[in-house]
Amino acid sequence: MDDFTVTPWKVEGVIDYDRLVERFGVRRMTGDVRARLARAAGGSHHLIDRGIFFSHRDLDAILKTAEGGGRFFMYTGRGPSGTTHIGHLVPWILARWLQERFGATVYFQLTDDEKFFAKPGLTLEEAGGHALDNALDFAALGFDPDRTRIMIDTRDIAALYPIAARVAKKITFSSTKATFGFTGETNIGMIFYTALQSAPCFIEDAPVLIPLGVDQDPHFRLTRDVAPVLGKPKPALIHSMMMPGLGGGGGKMSSSGDDAILLSDDPRTVEKKIKKRAFSGGRTDVAEHRRLGGDPDVDVSFQYLRFLFEPDDSKLERLREEYASGRMLTGELKQILIEKANGFLEEHRARREEIRPDLGSYMFG
Ligand code: TRP
Repeated sequence: MDDFTVTPWKVEGVIDYDRLVERFGVRRMTGDVRARLARAAGGSHHLIDRGIFFSHRDLDAILKTAEGGGRFFMYTGRGPSGTTHIGHLVPWILARWLQERFGATVYFQLTDDEKFFAKPGLTLEEAGGHALDNALDFAALGFDPDRTRIMIDTRDIAALYPIAARVAKKITFSSTKATFGFTGETNIGMIFYTALQSAPCFIEDAPVLIPLGVDQDPHFRLTRDVAPVLGKPKPALIHSMMMPGLGGGGGKMSSSGDDAILLSDDPRTVEKKIKKRAFSGGRTDVAEHRRLGGDPDVDVSFQYLRFLFEPDDSKLERLREEYASGRMLTGELKQILIEKANGFLEEHRARREEIRPDLGSYMFG
């Protein structure tokens, strides 16, 4: 029996990515496809090189389009249930880099309706407020305003609905039930919603590439089944691993409470969270640690450096060796993360304020 769950609304247990690849029927990012992407892009990205984007669907088709000088566009999104945390950034940072390398337009869907349907305590107004705040986080990563269209479902529904209707007609209740585990108690907003998340895939007459957390894959399995019926190419996907929460353990960072580093956390909060909560791959005492070394693979501080905060491969490798050999203690590694994370977040917040007056130029509507 499987001991982990990965769906758009629930990630539980320790994710075994090899088994997930089999379960979802996705393709591993092989060395070949990585090299082909790097050639087409004229360079590589640490999120690809380090295997954090570990699988894909039809990335080869997108690369073929790009190699032939053809156009593709990109799409990703966010369910605005609250403040953005650092785990949300992983697919967005790759999208930004791909936009820069390929000059592709990026659609970003903020699903205020979805979070309203999914979260019993959340009002539609609250979700709408988070959507605007999340939009600012997205835009602040350095997207090109001329090639970026941020959509909010309830606001931009006139553009999305005709597409969603065509998709919805081709998805049966049994297939959504089978895909998401819906029951008779599920509200009908949720049941329809996957059609709306599909809509941006078909908004342009070109193939689409979607960088996303692997938990969102089930939606696009349905979309991909419908695409040929609508006479459209199947959306291509590139999946990231889920960034662990501070508590570690191979699941995903949850937005709630103390498990996440929020983009709004001030330097003191970041320091406290990392010191108190970041799961350590260190040993029980210093002598043991010096003798046996730490385990960077389970150490959350090391993992945050690997995912986001130390893009320089040689520096990251040095940290890995220092830590694994026992020369570096968990406290020292945490201090490095605290400084890097706070530097990143301060720069991010400055960038947010810089572009705040221009947010309108990134919006679809
Ligand atoms: N459902 C996603 C979430 O809860 C938001 C989303 C909408 C999305 N469209 C997307 C995510 C496309 C990835 C790709 O976060």
